[in-house]
This record gives sequence, C-alpha cells and structure tokens, in this order.
Amino acid sequence: MWGGRFAAGPASVMREINASIPFDKRLWKQDIAGSKAHVAMLAARNIVEGEDAQAITEGLNRIAAEYEADGVPVDLDLEDIHMVTESRLAELIGPVAGRLHTARSRNDQVATDFRLWVRDAIDEVEAGLAALQRALVARADDHADAVMPGFTHLQSAQPVTLGHHLMAYYEMVRRDRSRFADARARLNECPLGAAALAGTGFPTDRHMTAAALGFAKPTDNSLDSVSDRDFALDYLMAATQASLHLSRLAEEFIIWASQPFGFVKLPDAYSTGSSIMPQKRNPDAAELVRGHAGRIMGCMTALCVTMKGLPLAYSKDMQDDKPPVFEAHDLLGLSIAAMTGMVETVTFRTDRMRALAESGFATATDLADWLVREANIPFREAHHITGRAVAAAEAAGVPLDQLPLDTLKDIDARIDDRVYSVLTVDASVASRKSHGGTAPDQVRARIAQAREELGS
Ligand code: ARG
Repeated sequence: MWGGRFAAGPASVMREINASIPFDKRLWKQDIAGSKAHVAMLAARNIVEGEDAQAITEGLNRIAAEYEADGVPVDLDLEDIHMVTESRLAELIGPVAGRLHTARSRNDQVATDFRLWVRDAIDEVEAGLAALQRALVARADDHADAVMPGFTHLQSAQPVTLGHHLMAYYEMVRRDRSRFADARARLNECPLGAAALAGTGFPTDRHMTAAALGFAKPTDNSLDSVSDRDFALDYLMAATQASLHLSRLAEEFIIWASQPFGFVKLPDAYSTGSSIMPQKRNPDAAELVRGHAGRIMGCMTALCVTMKGLPLAYSKDMQDDKPPVFEAHDLLGLSIAAMTGMVETVTFRTDRMRALAESGFATATDLADWLVREANIPFREAHHITGRAVAAAEAAGVPLDQLPLDTLKDIDARIDDRVYSVLTVDASVASRKSHGGTAPDQVRARIAQAREELGS
C-alpha cells in the first residue's frame, strides 16, 4: 500500500501490532456501504467514470456476498477491513479498483464505518431496553398492590408495593434509552469526505454521501471528523449507566433469592446448581450481569484514556477504539437479555414479602403521621412517641397494629382506636397517594402511562 516509499517490509511483530483486521472485520457491512455511497458520489461528480463506478459497485456487492457466506478473511498483511476489501476488489475487477480510494482516506473511512456501526448498536440496545421495560411493566401490573418492605440502608423502612419497586427500574431504563437516543442524534453526522485530515481538492458532494448513508448532514470540520471518537464514548458512557442499572436490579434479585429473604425463586433457566451441594440454586446469570457492569465500565475507561492525550488529528492509538466498544456492546446485549428473561419468569413470593413487611414495624411512620394529623402533635414529638410504641411492640413480640389500645394510651393518652386504621401495611401504602407515591392507584396510573410511552 505504501510500497512506493518503503524498501523493506514490516517486521513480523510490526505486522501483528499494526493489524486490526482480527477485530475490525466486524465493520464489513458498514465499510461496504460507505464505499458504495462514496463511489456513487464520485460518479455523480464525474470524478470517476460511470462505467468504472459500476464495476466497483458490482465488485463490492460480490465481496459483500462472499463475506456473508464465508466470513471476512483475516490476513494480517492486509492490516484492516478497508485494505482487505480493497485488495479483494482489485483481484475481482483489476486496477480500476484503485479509483475507489479517490478523495477519501482510511481516516475518514474508518470514522464513517465506526459511526455507522455504533448507530446500529444503539438501535439494537434500544430495542433490547424496550423489551426489558415491557417485561417490567407487565410484572408491575400483576403486582401493583402486592405489599413488600421498602428499604433504606437495607433496613425495613416503609411498606411499598412490588409494582412500585419494579416501576422504579422502568424509570431508570427510560432514562437509559433517552441517553442512547441523545448519543444517536449527536453521532449522526457523516465524516466521509474529510479525507486524511484537511478535506480534498476533488469536487466532491459530501451532502450526497451523508444522505445516502442516512446521516442528517456532513460533519463541518475535517480535522474533527477524523480525530474524535466522542460518539463511541457517548455510547460507552450510556452503556455504562445502563449496565449500572441492570447490575442493581441483578443485585436485588441475588439478595431476594437468598434464603433469609426468600422474596423470589429464580427460574431454572437463569440459575445453576452446585456440583457438591444438591440444594443450591445459584443466581449465576444475575451475578454475571453484576460482573459485566464492571467490565463495561472498564471499556469506557479504556477508551477515555486512549483518547485523552491525542493531538489532532488521527493517531494510530485510535485503532484501539473498537475492541472496547465491541466488547461492551456484546456484554450489554447479554446483560439486557438475561435481565429481561429473569424479570419475565422470576417467581415473586408475595406472601413472604407481605409477612416481612408486617413484621418490621414498617408502619411506624404512619403512626407518627397520624399523631400529627389527628392529635396536632409536632412531628418530632410524634416521632418520639412512636419510638416508644415500637419498643413496646418489640418487647411484646407483636406488630404495631396488634398492640392493645391500653398500651398505646399508656404511651400517649391522645391516641384513640381510630389509629388502627392506619397501622396495617395495606392502609399505609394506600395512603401514599402523592405524585409518584407507592399507592396502588398511583402505580396503576403510571403503568397506564408507561404502556402509552411504549406504544403498547
Ligand atoms: N485500521 C485503522 C483504524 O482502525 C484505519 C485507519 C488507518 N489510518 C492510518 N492513517 N493509518 O484506525
């Protein structure tokens, strides 16, 4: 490729360190699409004759069929997907293949291919996250009034509903999707035609290639076009955030599946057994989702560090942009699919959740609120009175709503029997009707909206 200038070939280690074909072969579809758009533009602008452009296009179509059927041949001597394809084109159509690389460089070529690839990756992730949202909404609807303990500090805090808890993840995933959508909109400018770094003297039409490849417009600065990978980082940052959310849900399933909790039975399909302990049902899929979040974040960090010290424009360090994006995308796809499958098929033990919600004095806040509302006691004092009631219930080994009225009256004479109507867990959740609160009516209303958002 640069034989005109060099007398000797590369050392074998040079060949190896230089080659990206082992991983960038994943860009082949985008590379062919970019080349076809480029050559059509070259012909339209009379930079390449129509006949030659047609031969090139036909050759590219044939190569695409070959790659589809047999995969991309990995030849380290040919370095990368761009050279592998160009050299195959020369084998197929002869020297006219060399006209394809007029008015472009591998620098704008790879920037274009990679943007196209990340754009497709975002579309895949979006579809996966939408499926996860649908699963969350369906299960939330089934359990819109199933009471469970709500936690802070992983201590039983106030009763909530399982539907509300699941819908919390719906909201997280909704924001994850909007981050990917933002990233997609921002990346959708076409670098093709920026050439090596300075643009080109040929009378190209960059709007034409941009439109042909589904970009909103061409990029506006040739140096920026070939030298930034912020679109890949946007993807990785969105992927990191999404994987953190998935990891937290996975962590909850792991805790909930543990015997002392017993809130869920994980499906066989997403669990493994132990080779020595026959009773075990290990939450491996959830644990791997939790683990993958660390690796995805590592991919993001890797590309941040690759990019942070590079002067404009292209440097070969940037070839290292692709493995972390590919890796993160594969891990994220698996994580989304695994969590979706688990959400769809996990068995929720709502009887157990209810029993624990009832046993943890989780309605103590409701008692304090009642004292404020009905006896006009300042909240801080009501908190103190309630603390004594909790201590009495704990000593008697009963839930708050089973403390005798005499005991409550001994603690504070202003308490009367109307208080019992707020001390059950059902009354507690039903009362939390504030916007976004856990009251089943609120949760159902949000579920209805969510279904509209999802178009289902
Ligand atoms: N394989 C290279 C990459 O992925 C393509 C661009 C090479 N450009 C160059 N000037 N060496 O970054």
